[in-house]
Amino acid sequence: MKMTLKVWRQAGPAARGEFRTYVANDVSEHMSFLEMLDVVNEELLAKGEEPIAFDHDCREGICGTCSMMINGVPHGPKRATTTCQLHMRSFRDGDAITIEPWRAKPFPVIRDLVVDRSAFDRIIASGGFVTAPTGSAQDANAILVPKDASDLAMDAAACIGCGACVAACPNGSAILFTAAKVAHLALLPQGQPERDRRVLAMAHQMDLEEFGGCTLFAECEAACPKEISVENIARMNRDLLRATLRNRGARVEAGGG
Ligand code: SF4
Ligand code: FES
Repeated sequence: MKMTLKVWRQAGPAARGEFRTYVANDVSEHMSFLEMLDVVNEELLAKGEEPIAFDHDCREGICGTCSMMINGVPHGPKRATTTCQLHMRSFRDGDAITIEPWRAKPFPVIRDLVVDRSAFDRIIASGGFVTAPTGSAQDANAILVPKDASDLAMDAAACIGCGACVAACPNGSAILFTAAKVAHLALLPQGQPERDRRVLAMAHQMDLEEFGGCTLFAECEAACPKEISVENIARMNRDLLRATLRNRGARVEAGGG
């Protein structure tokens, strides 16, 4: 297959970006989207041009780094699929494909398709610790976890922190990501001692990072490669309300107690 790529090129955070057009020749339908970009980059290098910078690590759909907008959709046209797991058979010979970085104020462009998502790291860090008993291993059934709760917690824990939810949201909200991180601990017995403090601190940090507010478009759920449900947002909002009422007057800071 042969494709025309319109790719966002930006030399650095302060540089002015622009779309540039490249032709990808000899694209196999079995290639992943990133492998197709690898081939384009090899050709650019052979011509002495700068390769297209893009983030990637596992290429197995588990690290969340391969983030880019493909034809205006985070991670491209295939539902529940990261860019690294997207194959070129999802496109047709002769297609024109537009490739851009995430567009959100808290995710500044570092170069080309690479953005700085450390705002997510700071939200996670603000959640702090969980109380975990140390010493010798407990008996297998010492802490019973209802099956429903463990299933929901595992579903929430599937979030890979890719940022597609933010990129898809017209408000640039990080609520689905934050809600997933809050929920996977709030649903388990181990997450209870710090439950209030955690949700207050993570919501506070989310605001400090200047992510937008949630107005329930649910574009985040549609774009999420791990199909994180917006039900987690409702769970987080309930937790946040309860924690706010219970801790009125207390000073709760991001990362603090
Ligand atoms: S909630 Fe989904 S889209 Fe958002 S960061 Fe997690 S995995 Fe990515
Ligand atoms: S490179 Fe790790 S999820 Fe795509």
